[in-house]
Amino acid sequence: MSKIVFIGGGNMASCLIGGMLTNGFSSQDIMVSEPNEDSRKRMQSTHGVLTTADNLAAVSQADIIVLAVKPQIMGAVASPLAAKLEHKPIIVSIAAGIPVSALQNWLGQHLKIVRAMPNTPAMVQSGATGLFASQSLGNDQQAMIENMFSAVGYACWVAQESDIDAVTAVSGSGPAYFFLIYEAMLKVAQELGLDKQTASQLTLHTAMGAARLALTSESTPDELRKQVTSPGGTTQAAIESFQAQDLEGIFRIAMTSALERAKKMSDDFAG
Ligand SMILES: NC(=O)c1ccc[n+]([C@@H]2O[C@H](COP(=O)([O-])OP(=O)(O)OC[C@H]3O[C@@H](n4cnc5c(N)ncnc54)[C@H](OP(=O)(O)O)[C@@H]3O)[C@@H](O)[C@H]2O)c1
Repeated sequence: MSKIVFIGGGNMASCLIGGMLTNGFSSQDIMVSEPNEDSRKRMQSTHGVLTTADNLAAVSQADIIVLAVKPQIMGAVASPLAAKLEHKPIIVSIAAGIPVSALQNWLGQHLKIVRAMPNTPAMVQSGATGLFASQSLGNDQQAMIENMFSAVGYACWVAQESDIDAVTAVSGSGPAYFFLIYEAMLKVAQELGLDKQTASQLTLHTAMGAARLALTSESTPDELRKQVTSPGGTTQAAIESFQAQDLEGIFRIAMTSALERAKKMSDDFAG
């Protein structure tokens, strides 16, 4: 089995490791390198994985290195690792906005790099992750990396690096769009007379039910919408109001802003 080393043992590393362990990965094949002693102890007690504070010793043994530190410190953390990567492990970066070119500048031009963009529902094994590989991977390597992220939800490969910016605008930031809609529906549902608990449960179960129905149905989104919308009925009144205010246009502007921001962050790191 491949040795997988996480550099950084924070929230995202912990939720990935938790998912991996419940999906057939062995704690003996996973090591976390992390400077904070409390975080190391938490990793040991929660997941039973090996831990160290020595990034260089950890990566020299690794087949796959997952870079799971904050983007702002990635350069400072990654650069010293370059001297210990002659064995050419695969590098998986989950850091938002850091392009392959920056990672190769820090770590070495010859390395295979995978950029992964997970999202926060990974914490409850319901994440959505886009993956991009800088060079083609062996079938086993590709399957292993896909399994790591499938362990915390849905994972798919994208064809080009610029697609990762689109993934960021869709699913990386996407949970916040739905939380915003949740906030709005919760407030209005209470104004319409429901208590907070009832409003919250009805809203969230409706969101989950709509997502499940769409995932399992062969119908298109507009067919599903039309199934709920009888002519002259309550749903039609609401949908017409959304459309009169150009809901699609609002999303286009918002998601394009997220995409532009992701591109700008990548450009800044690319230098
Ligand atoms: N959270 C998300 O939803 C999400 C989604 C997509 C991508 N990401 C990406 O995932 C990465 C990690 O995010 P996170 O939320 O897990 O952050 P986090 O909880 O802050 O985890 C980062 C960890 O790295 C540790 N660290 C700091 N310096 C280090 C060093 N020199 N060597 C090794 N470890 C070091 C930190 O320790 P200290 O606490 O002691 O500083 C911390 O435990 C980020 O790049 C983020 O962009 C996160």
